[in-house]
Amino acid sequence: MPLRKRMLQALRVSARSISHLMKWTEKWTYSVDCLGKHTEMQKIKNLDEMPGPSAFGFVWDLIARRGLSRLHELQLEGRQRYGPMWKASFGPILTVHIAEPALIEQVLRQEGQHPIRSDLSSWKDYRRLRGHGFGLLTAEGEEWQFVRSLLAKHMLRPHAVEAYDTVLNSVVSDLLAKLRLRSSQNAQGLVTDIANEFYRFGLEGISSVLFESRIGCLEPHIPPETDRFIQSINTMFVLTLLTMAMPAWLHSIFSKPWDTFCQCWDYMFHFAKGHIDQRLEEEAKKLAHGEKVEGRYLTYFLSKQELPMKTIYSNVTELLLAGVDTISGTMSWSLYELSRHPDVQDALRDEVLAVLGGRQIPNAADVSKMPLMKAVVKEVLRLYPVIPGNARVIAERDIEVGGYLIPRNTLITLCQYATSRDPQTFSEPDSFLPRRWLSREQNHHPYASLPFGVGKRSCVGRRIAELELYLALARILIHFEVKPDPRGSTVQPMTRTLLVPQGEINLQFVER
Ligand code: HEM
Repeated sequence: MPLRKRMLQALRVSARSISHLMKWTEKWTYSVDCLGKHTEMQKIKNLDEMPGPSAFGFVWDLIARRGLSRLHELQLEGRQRYGPMWKASFGPILTVHIAEPALIEQVLRQEGQHPIRSDLSSWKDYRRLRGHGFGLLTAEGEEWQFVRSLLAKHMLRPHAVEAYDTVLNSVVSDLLAKLRLRSSQNAQGLVTDIANEFYRFGLEGISSVLFESRIGCLEPHIPPETDRFIQSINTMFVLTLLTMAMPAWLHSIFSKPWDTFCQCWDYMFHFAKGHIDQRLEEEAKKLAHGEKVEGRYLTYFLSKQELPMKTIYSNVTELLLAGVDTISGTMSWSLYELSRHPDVQDALRDEVLAVLGGRQIPNAADVSKMPLMKAVVKEVLRLYPVIPGNARVIAERDIEVGGYLIPRNTLITLCQYATSRDPQTFSEPDSFLPRRWLSREQNHHPYASLPFGVGKRSCVGRRIAELELYLALARILIHFEVKPDPRGSTVQPMTRTLLVPQGEINLQFVER
């Protein structure tokens, strides 16, 4: 072969080899790269690597910096200092805090068949100690699932809930009369400490749904047991976090918090039992006289399921409790914000009047046609979520969230207050801007503000609560102009397990 031809062939071979070599090198680099990334993806961190305050630092914050009442603010501080996930030890409890909507979604999507909200250990310890049953707030597993599906039928289905509008409207009529009385007693129409009035409204409202009868919380003279029940709820909530953090052996040495906590629950169970027994006795008498019994109230539905009385008592007690502070807080903050934003108040009143077209009393169908009303309540619950920090305990398995492995049975706090006031998600996060919920451009992460929770264990009272709030706000705005306290006081929220007003909210109710 001539030299020239041999050289060309050699070059072709080496070019082919080089191209092979290059392809192989490319492939190899790619695989190594992938492997690297894969290893990186696989490298799940454990809780030791998670940032967070020292045990001493956290306890210092809680005790010396009034942290128990500032737990919602500690969420904001925690996120700023440690990022979207951090751990903290509270007494014997290790908690992982999560303050980013996408990570909260990751937790809730792994919550399993029978989600556990939290150990709420002191609530459960009390029930075990006294031999009481567990209600929907405290029951777990199959026991929870059974009652949940029963109650959901009567509390979450739109048709079932609409049926409560008449009885709730009669409670709202009494609320209006009470506000009229209170405002007429002051030259400026000032009603002081409106949360107190709304506690009674909340208790009367949930009682009317549970018993289809009235218990007199909004009468000029309030039955003393009503106020004792409300006081018991308040004190029980104040003591919940403390009794959860105290190990059981401390109860005998430092007994006051635990004893008071148990006395509050004793009274709540006693109060609920009295009303249930009375209602069921009335029914039994009617039946004995051959009369037809046709209840539309929740206790009646529960009693028809042949559940043990213990289960009925515990469920009704927990529903009564769940319907008081939640409604009171949301009503108080709604009117507080509306009084400070007369433009929104006027627009909302116009919406109500337009839907009613001359009628005075809205029904469930009417309020469903009020988008601004819904936006106002959403915005109030974004700013003041009744449950500022929800929780989950995943008992079935370890889960991975945000690159960390969270061992089963870890208490995971979902920092809803921090996510709903996050400037990354909500522009002007501390301002009351209900119209943000009406504009399509505002695309919030769906888990950024979850005032009623989401999924299987979400609030079973949501539909009833919303109906009650809409009916009450609509009629208050028809009859009154609500103005801020002329002394100009601002009120901040504080944590008492739930988020409540730190000071009294005083408002002027000027008759239209
Ligand atoms: C503005 C009013 C209310 C708010 C913001 C609210 C919020 C919540 C939240 C955040 C939860 C926990 C959800 C979760 O863990 O994912 C919850 C659970 C619950 N709520 Fe409400 N709630 C309100 C009113 C009510 C009312 C009026 C009732 C009773 C009629 C009620 C009964 C319950 C019950 C029984 C549960 C436990 C559900 C379960 O574990 O299956 N809530 N609520």
